[in-house]
Amino acid sequence: MIAPLVIGNWKMNMLVSEACDLALSLANNSFEGVDVVIAPPFTSIYPVSQIIKESRLGLAGQNFYSGSKGAYTGEISIEMLKDVGCSHVLIGHSERRQLFNECNENINRKVQLATQMGITAVVCVGETQRQREEGNTLDVIKDQLSKALVGLSGQSLAFVVIAYEPIWAIGTGINASPAQVVETHKFIRKFLFESQEFSENIEPRILYGGSVNAQNCKQLLCEEEIDGALVGGASLNFESFYAIIKSCVGA
Ligand code: PGA
Repeated sequence: MIAPLVIGNWKMNMLVSEACDLALSLANNSFEGVDVVIAPPFTSIYPVSQIIKESRLGLAGQNFYSGSKGAYTGEISIEMLKDVGCSHVLIGHSERRQLFNECNENINRKVQLATQMGITAVVCVGETQRQREEGNTLDVIKDQLSKALVGLSGQSLAFVVIAYEPIWAIGTGINASPAQVVETHKFIRKFLFESQEFSENIEPRILYGGSVNAQNCKQLLCEEEIDGALVGGASLNFESFYAIIKSCVGA
């Protein structure tokens, strides 16, 4: 069985001193049986990497540009993320799709680049409220997944994690119900095995994200279909993030 994975997406929050304080509190605790990754904003990635380097915590970038290097003012590359110790990177988060017009083609290119570098691509997919109400959730997920993963080799797929994040649940305080998440995760798992080159030795991890907090984490993370969580707001506070991590192992 694969260990659960909990990722804290700090988004555009925290100054360097705040990020370092939180990273230190996390690094000073043990997470037996759970893989924990934090995704600080770019300005804090390097100092945070120095704080957590002796710990079991992983580090993620929240984004990168798909060029390798050169005249791309304001962007950073996947090599730069690797250089500062990132093991993971978020790709296709709905905020990037919606606010920064990220398209499926670009997402696919980024998944290719990250996985070729041995960095785990956390590929985010999810439907809007309207798409759910109209009964289109699974079609939307299938479309996003197939376009994000097209052309990936079996070897690259070993470096892919899927995060199911319904857009209506992100930052709203309204989480998807365990039944809704389980239904979608089962669909994603089946889709991956049927249409991709996931071999029997690769067990894809499928995380849930969307208003996961210290109160609802237990009922979500005790589900066998849910391999962990991508946490936004509740990852900014040590107590709530730690409670979510602990709930993965039934504590
Ligand atoms: P949230 O964000 O936990 O604040 O809803 C989740 C995410 O955007 O990954």
